[in-house]
Amino acid sequence: MVRTNALGLMLSVVLLATITPSVAFSVDGPTGPTKLRCEYLVNPLGIDVRQPRFAWVLGHTERGQKQAAYQILVATRLESLNQDKGEQWDSSKISSDDSTQVAYAGKPLESGRTYYWKVRYWDKAGKASSYSQPAQFDVGLLSREEWKGQWIGGDGLLRKEINLAEKVVRARAYVTALGYYELRINGEKVGNNVLDPAWTTYEKRVLYTTYDVTPCFQRGANALGVMLGGGWATLHINAELPGVYKSPALLLQISLELEGGKQLTLVSDASWKTSRGPVVSDSVYHGEVYDARLELPGWDRPGFDASAWSTAKVREGTKGAVSAQMMPPIQVVDSMVPVSLSNPQPGVYVYDLGQNFSGWAKLRVNGPAGAAVQMRFSELLYPSGMINRETIRDAKSRDIYILRGSGTEVYEPRFTYHGFRYVEVTGYPGAPSLDSLRGKVVNTAVEPTGSFVASNPLLNQIQKIIRWGQSTNLHSVPTDCDQRNERQGWMGDAQVTAEEAMLNFDMAAFYTNFLRDIRDVQGEDGTITDTVPHKYGSRPADPAWGTAYPLIAWYMYQQYGDRRILEEHYEGLKKYVEFLRSRAPDNILRYSYYGDWVAIEQTPGEYVSAAYYYWDVQLLSKVAEILGKSSDAQAYAQLAEQIKEAFNRTFLNPATGLYANGTQTAQTMALYLGLVPKEQAGPVASNLYKDIVYKHDTHVTTGFIGVKYLLPLLTRIGYPDIAYDLATQTTYPSWGFMIAQGATTLWEIWQQKVGPSMNSQNHPMLGSVGAWFYQALAGINVDADGAGYRRIVIQPQIVRDLTSAGATVETVRGIVSCTWTHTAGKITLDVTVPVNSEAKIVIPKEQEMTEVVVSEGDRVVWENGRFVPGTEGVLGARTGSDQTAFLAPSRETVVFDVGSGHYSFKLTGQ
Ligand code: BGC
Repeated sequence: MVRTNALGLMLSVVLLATITPSVAFSVDGPTGPTKLRCEYLVNPLGIDVRQPRFAWVLGHTERGQKQAAYQILVATRLESLNQDKGEQWDSSKISSDDSTQVAYAGKPLESGRTYYWKVRYWDKAGKASSYSQPAQFDVGLLSREEWKGQWIGGDGLLRKEINLAEKVVRARAYVTALGYYELRINGEKVGNNVLDPAWTTYEKRVLYTTYDVTPCFQRGANALGVMLGGGWATLHINAELPGVYKSPALLLQISLELEGGKQLTLVSDASWKTSRGPVVSDSVYHGEVYDARLELPGWDRPGFDASAWSTAKVREGTKGAVSAQMMPPIQVVDSMVPVSLSNPQPGVYVYDLGQNFSGWAKLRVNGPAGAAVQMRFSELLYPSGMINRETIRDAKSRDIYILRGSGTEVYEPRFTYHGFRYVEVTGYPGAPSLDSLRGKVVNTAVEPTGSFVASNPLLNQIQKIIRWGQSTNLHSVPTDCDQRNERQGWMGDAQVTAEEAMLNFDMAAFYTNFLRDIRDVQGEDGTITDTVPHKYGSRPADPAWGTAYPLIAWYMYQQYGDRRILEEHYEGLKKYVEFLRSRAPDNILRYSYYGDWVAIEQTPGEYVSAAYYYWDVQLLSKVAEILGKSSDAQAYAQLAEQIKEAFNRTFLNPATGLYANGTQTAQTMALYLGLVPKEQAGPVASNLYKDIVYKHDTHVTTGFIGVKYLLPLLTRIGYPDIAYDLATQTTYPSWGFMIAQGATTLWEIWQQKVGPSMNSQNHPMLGSVGAWFYQALAGINVDADGAGYRRIVIQPQIVRDLTSAGATVETVRGIVSCTWTHTAGKITLDVTVPVNSEAKIVIPKEQEMTEVVVSEGDRVVWENGRFVPGTEGVLGARTGSDQTAFLAPSRETVVFDVGSGHYSFKLTGQ
């Protein structure tokens, strides 16, 4: 994963804007598709989907281009694919503009095989492209019966030697653990994953990773070594909840193909040996103790004398499903050089890494055997310069390294992670230097796919800390925080940040898995839980937390066009909504635990629950409609109407235009969800406006629920300037306030608190505003019926003193970008629309402008109040105004319909 600074982002916006349109041109037709994906992944190993879905991105030199048809070939041998033969599947020419979510429909796929595929397309003129470069996917083990080994455990290290008479021509390792594993073959670590496998509800589902281990084996003696750590499997959090194991366990299978055709399968079983190793203790929360004197050199190589080792113990393991891990793994994604080193007390050294993040420290040290160096992690410092660990609660968050006493020793832990900015080092022999320590950034290695940049540097700073907070809280589940003894998949936090995350990172595979995690915790009665996996909080979930299930599924559909998600979860979603219904006999869902959590002005919890109940039912109705389940669609639409009626009867005071107690969150949610009766919309909105501007001097008073909708709502009702004022506020409470106090990731609460209370310094939830940066300021939106960016609405908000803003999003259909500039009398707009998509581009006029001229490139496309046809890709234009603005004077706009391509619009006027 590459991290870029604001300048880098700005450059990438500029570069993408200039590079994307000039896709290589071929005289015979369009160039072949690129960015081939299978189940959202690039050349995945070990998928266990029988009809995997393919996706590709198109390029074309002409504007307004579309895919009229495609052809996919799938083969078991690269040679046949190279001869344009798809013996496994030849889709033939399919008339369709689907370039994503295309399901495999060939011969049944077999476990353990590699398949090669490529695709070509025909453009709207019927010209065929060349074929894409080949891509591949590997099928894992499709059924539980194919796992021949047993779950085994032992004392930390496990090993097995095998002799191979022939050279290995193909080898795949399938590995999972209850806890964490590190697989080593002939002395080398296999792959770059750390903290693997992903944390799931192990009783229901464990995930295995597939590695291509062909090059790891040699003819003759080979050694397999596995280190096991407890991870989430052995961590005691809540004694009342199941799913805590006494010790970690391994399940492994390696399929080998030898020269000459012989097949061999190696599995974990009682023939493995076990011994204690150098990891004395390990815990996700409390860190690792590593005694290098206990290392057993050569233990993972052939020829090691393991006669003193005992027999591995066969364990019960889990009866849950063993599924392929089809999402990015956790990896070390970056390295941090300390910005300073201080010595606040004799023998106490404090490193400042300059950034709050998740991961660990890599230590270099020379010294006598037995010397113990302790690293303790913190997010804050006391004024004395000593580390302040009050934000990490009961997590011990410390690693201890005990030296073996020979030369320079380098240590980094394996089975723990910390959330921190500062590292305190004690027990170091001599004095450490800046070079004695590096920070290692560790999180689920999602690709960054979005960038946002604006002329106001504060927005760029907020964007930067949102990204840091978001990515470092992806640890196979979306966590609430990364430092204290929590780090849970709190569903409320997950749902408010999901859109922001999807705009900044490629989250498709990640949330596909998380939705399965949610299904794993669903009870027979339809209930789901506050945290997923369920370790904290309650069953049933607070409705504002449980809504993560329908909402994330819905965002997956909007952002990635993922209809299969809706199909896969329809029954689960329906069961969930039916559970809510059973708790809302009078159509008001009242139960609530947290409501608008961390609010400055509290909104009644029952109000928040009732609003989400309405939304959940409405979404279910929409999903039913998309899936063609029309009677359900109708029934839930009717129920939604009844809820709306009850909601207004219960919470709206028609005399005052106030909902519940009239907080920003109360007014916002009703408006945002379209709950407000038409005639009340004006008063309700004006109450919100007055509350923000007059009562609170343009500050938010919401918690993390309300703030997700506040800025988008203000924008929608004609107050983008007020939304912008809130976003760029610098006094308490605001994002700018956090930055002014030195925050490098967003805080859990609006207040600055550094004592022993609720005050994590890295909580991504208030970063939901990041979605508004993309959608409102840069103006990149998915059209209501254009899921997966098939139809795009570009509608930037040109606000206050902002002179430019722009964003780029690598969508499933290709790059979408919009960058605008504004100077008096002139607005420019650079827009990229991917091939096979179309866009509505809404260019605002300045309030005072009457006559405007719009050009695209060097051609006039709008003059004298009329569209000027004849520019390639620009299909039509009309004037528009913000229809939903019922308070602020509506803004006049010029609206263009365009096909794919890159456009440079310029609007000038008087
Ligand atoms: C978490 C929150 C979470 C909340 C539930 C806290 O401990 O850190 O972010 O949503 O509990 O109220």
